[in-house]
Amino acid sequence: MNFKLSEEHSMIQQAAREFAHELKAGVIERDEKALFPHEFVKKMADLGFMGLMIPEAYGGAGLDTLAYVLVLEEIAKIDASTAVILSAHNSLVLWGLNEYGNEEQKQKYLRPLAAGEKLGAFALSEPEAGSDASSQHTTAEDKGDHYLVNGTKNWITNGGNADIYLVIAQTDASAGHRGINVLIVEKDTPGFTIGPKENKLGIRSSDTHSLMFSDAKVPKENRIGEDGFGFKFAMKTLDGGRIGIAAQALGIAAGAYDLARAYSQERKTFGKPISNHQAIQFKLADMEVEIEAARLLTYKAAWTKDQGLPYGKEAAMAKLHTSEVAMKHTIEAIQIHGGYGYVKEYHVERLMRDAKITQIYEGTSEIQRLVIAREILK
Ligand code: CAA
Ligand code: FAD
Repeated sequence: MNFKLSEEHSMIQQAAREFAHELKAGVIERDEKALFPHEFVKKMADLGFMGLMIPEAYGGAGLDTLAYVLVLEEIAKIDASTAVILSAHNSLVLWGLNEYGNEEQKQKYLRPLAAGEKLGAFALSEPEAGSDASSQHTTAEDKGDHYLVNGTKNWITNGGNADIYLVIAQTDASAGHRGINVLIVEKDTPGFTIGPKENKLGIRSSDTHSLMFSDAKVPKENRIGEDGFGFKFAMKTLDGGRIGIAAQALGIAAGAYDLARAYSQERKTFGKPISNHQAIQFKLADMEVEIEAARLLTYKAAWTKDQGLPYGKEAAMAKLHTSEVAMKHTIEAIQIHGGYGYVKEYHVERLMRDAKITQIYEGTSEIQRLVIAREILK
């Protein structure tokens, strides 16, 4: 067992750290005005981050899941919105296309996505199908050489800015989850419209939209995998996606901790830095321990995936624990800042608002417990 990062991993971590530093100047304004970070998405493309785990043969960087986690962690320390844009694109769109797409689909869609010329979105959730993901109401009616898609998707990350959408829909209701398909849908498809942007508590510069389909014609060749593979595709995709959200939550927690630790050594009360008060020291000690434990779970989930071993339980454990640590310790980081923590310029209030979503999307904490319990009891 070796806990030391390789030279290559350290280099990618450093590159992500330098990039994240650039995110800091405008992060408060982007959060306040809910501005999508277009210029930084372009920069992430230039750095190879938009196709991080995709083989070089398809224009990606050919790196592993641990490298991906290191990049997300560094970015989320500063800007969790930019981290989730990256995570949804890489984990939820590119991974599945690379794993299960055919050669034509890879050439046509994976290449421009991996180069960052196009942005991807993953559309599973619906107004009445969130945790209960197999109860799909969106339909993809089989019309021979194409599908006619009807219905509404909800809460789609990158929803307004994406070019390519992976849309999950029910083709054969009588077959239940085995009658669900996943289709590649291009933005300009007639009958496909994008709803207004959601006004959110956190990750405000990541855009979230509903998607509406009314007799949207999608060619049969845009189905990924065999007929009825869509639900398993979504579940397998989410196993990896949850590692990305664990990394995002880890970055949020670590970012808040870095700020709180530094502040505690500057701020003086009763004639000494607040870090000299035992009550503050104990908070910092708990942060150090619990964030490191979350980091180990997250890196282990990434390592397990990279080893080619089953990783669904490890991903759920990492996501569950790290998101709870992020929520708990961003609140503590505000406490350490006192009144200054409650205003925007000290960053920790934003990190707390951003932390909350990590307990909800890509499966709520309750759903992670369900996934873990099913694994340990089967
Ligand atoms: N890998 C492969 N197959 C899987 C699987 C996995 N991880 N999990 C389930 N399956 C298969 C099962 O084997 C079963 O297939 P068979 O019947 O052929 O054996 C089939 O899928 C149905 O499985 P379940 O009966 O376990 O399904 P369920 O209806 O009980 O649901 C669930 C299970 C885990 C609760 C699932 O619905 C779930 O993950 N819900 C949460 C949804 C979610 O995470 N949504 C996230 C949306 S994306 C997002 O949020 C993005 C973002 O924020 C950026
Ligand atoms: P519900 O499923 O209605 O859950 C409500 C509550 O009941 C939760 O506390 C839940 O844990 C609990 N609950 C439900 N079932 C059970 C159970 N069996 N046992 C115990 N407790 C249970 N989806 C996408 O497809 N693509 C995206 O890109 C995407 N991005 C998102 C971005 C944001 C900002 C948000 C808010 C959501 C996003 N989602 C996305 C949707 C997200 O995955 C769902 O919101 C999430 O899965 C929960 O579904 P729900 O909101 O319908 O809640």
